[in-house]
Amino acid sequence: MLELFPEGFEELDSSDGVELVAYTDSGGEERLWHVFGGARAEDVAADWRERWQAFHQPVRIGPLWIGPPWADRPADATPIVIEPARAFGTGAHPTTQLCIELLLDLEPGSVVDLGCGSGVLSIVAAKLGFAPVLALDSDEHAVEAARTNAAANGVAVEARVADVLTSRLSAADLALANITRPALEELAPRLRSRRLISSGYLPTDAGGLEGFRHRRHLTRDGWAADLYEAAQ
Ligand SMILES: C[S@@+](CC[C@H](N)C(=O)[O-])C[C@H]1O[C@@H](n2cnc3c(N)ncnc32)[C@H](O)[C@@H]1O
Repeated sequence: MLELFPEGFEELDSSDGVELVAYTDSGGEERLWHVFGGARAEDVAADWRERWQAFHQPVRIGPLWIGPPWADRPADATPIVIEPARAFGTGAHPTTQLCIELLLDLEPGSVVDLGCGSGVLSIVAAKLGFAPVLALDSDEHAVEAARTNAAANGVAVEARVADVLTSRLSAADLALANITRPALEELAPRLRSRRLISSGYLPTDAGGLEGFRHRRHLTRDGWAADLYEAAQ
């Protein structure tokens, strides 16, 4: 579901399990059938726009506010506006939040964001004074979203389509990788970064990484994030 609807889907508890709900069109329904071999379709309620907006709530992380374009921005925080679209990273997910919490404690420098999704981490980094910021994703919708969101937030982020597991990785002071643990383990020996913030895995999956020393470990709602420093 995350791959099909990275912009978000609902989990509704029912007596015999959990129901996964996507608000989509006929193209999305076709993708559901293709992947799951079945899906139940219902017309969305007339108030779908209000429900969609109620679903995407802003979050506060330290001095930052991250929210959708229609939400009121507070005067006492740095606003980062992310349009919920076809890319992961509205700011609501614990992995994104944990990465931002680790980022807030670092001195600014250059950044490479490996699996940028909506560009949220890159935009936060740029707002915090990190530069230059390079955002990479293998999904062209994500790269498009990252470019649009960076422009809407008035920050300089270079977003490019790239498979980070196969393409040459640029050197940067800090690498951000909110990606799966197997992908992270594959990436680590190829990274050319002094520091690494990683997430996208369970606390039980966290551990050492080739070429890095472990520095910090945060967990929330069953997810983990870590800060590493290059061993030399
Ligand atoms: C969990 S999302 C993280 C989005 C955002 N950085 C955040 O923290 O909210 C992971 C992203 O990594 C991208 N991704 C997964 N494998 C990749 C690969 N091999 N190369 C480039 N991007 C990849 C996905 O398309 C997705 O946008």
